[in-house]
Amino acid sequence: MLRRLFTCTLFLLSATASRYPSFGTLQTNTSSGIMNVVINNTFSTINLIDFHILADLANLIEDLQQNDTDVRVAVFSSANPEYFTAHLDLNFFLPGYESPLPLLDPGNPEMPFPMAVLYNITQLPQATIAVVEGRARDFGNELILAMDMRFALNSPSVQLAQTEPSFGFNPAGGSQFLAQSLIGRGRAFEYSFSSYNIDAVTAAQIGWVNRAFDTQSELHTYVQALAGRIALFPPAGIQATKAGINAVSLIPLDAWIQQARNIVEVLAPSTAAQELLKKYMRVTNNQTNGEVELNYGNGEDVVELLS
Ligand SMILES: *[C@@H]1O[C@H](CO)[C@@H](O)[C@H](O)[C@H]1NC(C)=O
Ligand SMILES: *[C@@H]1O[C@H](CO)[C@@H](O)[C@H](O)[C@H]1NC(C)=O
Ligand SMILES: *[C@@H]1O[C@H](CO)[C@@H](O)[C@H](O)[C@H]1NC(C)=O
Ligand SMILES: *[C@@H]1O[C@H](CO)[C@@H](O)[C@H](O)[C@H]1NC(C)=O
Ligand SMILES: *[C@@H]1O[C@H](CO)[C@@H](O)[C@H](O)[C@H]1NC(C)=O
Repeated sequence: MLRRLFTCTLFLLSATASRYPSFGTLQTNTSSGIMNVVINNTFSTINLIDFHILADLANLIEDLQQNDTDVRVAVFSSANPEYFTAHLDLNFFLPGYESPLPLLDPGNPEMPFPMAVLYNITQLPQATIAVVEGRARDFGNELILAMDMRFALNSPSVQLAQTEPSFGFNPAGGSQFLAQSLIGRGRAFEYSFSSYNIDAVTAAQIGWVNRAFDTQSELHTYVQALAGRIALFPPAGIQATKAGINAVSLIPLDAWIQQARNIVEVLAPSTAAQELLKKYMRVTNNQTNGEVELNYGNGEDVVELLS
């Protein structure tokens, strides 16, 4: 009897519990086929993509993968006015890093966990939209690139960049091929090699984001209307269209895994990279809001801090 009770409880738990611990960094509301997701990492002043956000994203992905037809469009925005999401918690690349998450994704065992989150976002059965009102660099930029569409606010807070090459890394969260397919080969090289920031208006001109809006109200009104229209149509159309566009804009999973493992296993552990990473932790006061996190990539001054 006790054994049966136990089995029954376990079943109930597994039917409702999330796979990973939950940290409440994603606030969601759903109506009329649209799920609005607000990213609010209360453990960080910069919406750092640390294990809190990654665990919550992985749980959300698992829910969305069930093809729940109640949700046809997922719209992501940020609670932090300065940062959509900053970048990956660089502790991930430092020795002694501790996290409740596995280093590799159990469902995709060759892929480092953070990159598996991005890969899974590209594969979601829903249409996905990023509403960008603040900075999104590196993994933060790759998070918006992994979504199907991006709309940005014309504001000095919006600065997009891929700065891994300034640390001697490859951008391994998909930006080489995702950005390449949006902005072209030459510009993907220009922005990655230089690690320069790009503003919302320029980003819209070259296709990095779909459009830029002058006011928050225009931005949100446009995105909610677009999401509402997409949500009217059969999900099969969203999924089949996505499979087709993914087929020409993503590289094969094996090649992506190779890129991801290159940064994690080869580039980041090198002595030179480890020194830069430690320096970055110091000049950012442990990845908190301040001059470097705000303006990295704007000019020589900040980059010099690392040289
Ligand atoms: C749902 O989230 C969106 C985006 O944050 C917000 O504009 C809207 O007011 C929210 N709706 C409800 C019912 O909370
Ligand atoms: C959801 O839909 C996708 C695409 O049609 C399919 O590959 C996947 O198996 C479905 N997942 C579930 C849990 O039904
Ligand atoms: C973010 O979460 C904190 C803590 O729950 C809350 O006080 C704050 O209002 C949230 N921010 C937004 C914009 O929802
Ligand atoms: C990614 O999706 C696969 C199923 O396709 C799942 O097994 C795995 O747990 C997911 N991983 C993350 C990090 O979302
Ligand atoms: C840096 O912040 C993390 C939490 O994000 C904390 O665990 C760690 O102890 C901090 N390190 C220093 C040197 O303050």
